[in-house]
Amino acid sequence: MKELVARSLKYQAGRVQVLDQYLLPHEETWHHCTSVAQMTSLILTLKVRGAPLIGLAASLLVAYLAEQGHSKTQLSEAIDELEATRPTAVNLMHCMARLRTALQQQDFALAVVTEAERLFEEDCALCDRMATLGAQLVEPSDNILTHCNTGALATAGVGTALGVIHHAARQHADIHIWVDETRPLLQGGRLTAYELARWQIPYTLICDNMAASLMAAGKVDKIFVGADRIAANGDFANKVGTYNLAVLAHYHKIPFYVVAPVTTLDIGCASGAEIPIEQRAESEVTGVSGSFGHCQWAPVQAQVYNPAFDVTPAELITAWVLDTGVYYPQDVAAGVLGTV
Ligand code: MRU
Repeated sequence: MKELVARSLKYQAGRVQVLDQYLLPHEETWHHCTSVAQMTSLILTLKVRGAPLIGLAASLLVAYLAEQGHSKTQLSEAIDELEATRPTAVNLMHCMARLRTALQQQDFALAVVTEAERLFEEDCALCDRMATLGAQLVEPSDNILTHCNTGALATAGVGTALGVIHHAARQHADIHIWVDETRPLLQGGRLTAYELARWQIPYTLICDNMAASLMAAGKVDKIFVGADRIAANGDFANKVGTYNLAVLAHYHKIPFYVVAPVTTLDIGCASGAEIPIEQRAESEVTGVSGSFGHCQWAPVQAQVYNPAFDVTPAELITAWVLDTGVYYPQDVAAGVLGTV
């Protein structure tokens, strides 16, 4: 496989390496990944996370195993196992489907490696196109609110919603970003804040429940978020808390944009009701874990509800920024997502 380098995933010197996103921003630790069990665990614990990145990391691992001489059956089992790690982000299913097709070739090892390289490089190009299109929606001095982490850490390129913000900031140095901390796993507070600081884009971190009063005070001009799966009717799943923002944006008449590559579309899902939502461990809500260990604040017996994602209905979305164009409600209602 050729050398591939992204912000949190690389194939270098014959090794698949991933940046541990759970330890960021305080520790930059790279894991050298050689087995399905190891990659599965990295994905389940969100050390490897973000819809496009999950699919790409799994793909590079399968390609690495192909290079190591694993049989067709072993590679097929690896694909099945990796695909089952996280059920909502459809990019993973998209990547695994592409590798399954490659596996049918006579020289399946070469075909799988080539396809994994292609997936990685395509993602960089998709990010650039989304960022360029989305940045045109941003105006000087905009205050933009974003949720979770959708940047270079979550993709092979510059990111989705945060990629738009990156490109917009190069055109308008005076924009400012409100960063939702994104409970329970704090991808905003840990990762988006870290990326914006590195890019020298002015930002202010808020707790998720502060967004409403900011909007009421007229301090949010636009909202840009990413997606883990977009249904044919435009409904989409993204990090839990996204739907709250969409409802608030609607009430306060603030434009609400979703940014995603075509690999996040699932036209097999007619509406958001068909998107499977991952449920996660109670311990993520009753406390917090990190390099410092685990800190529990809720009573040990506390009953917990912990969906990783929620669904935002199409009627609350101002526009869908895909790599193929910016689509408005009338386009989506006319079925454009089935044709891009
Ligand atoms: O659980 P995570 O951290 O993988 O969730 C990530 C998100 O919800 C992102 O918004 C989404 O994957 C789009 S990232 C480019």
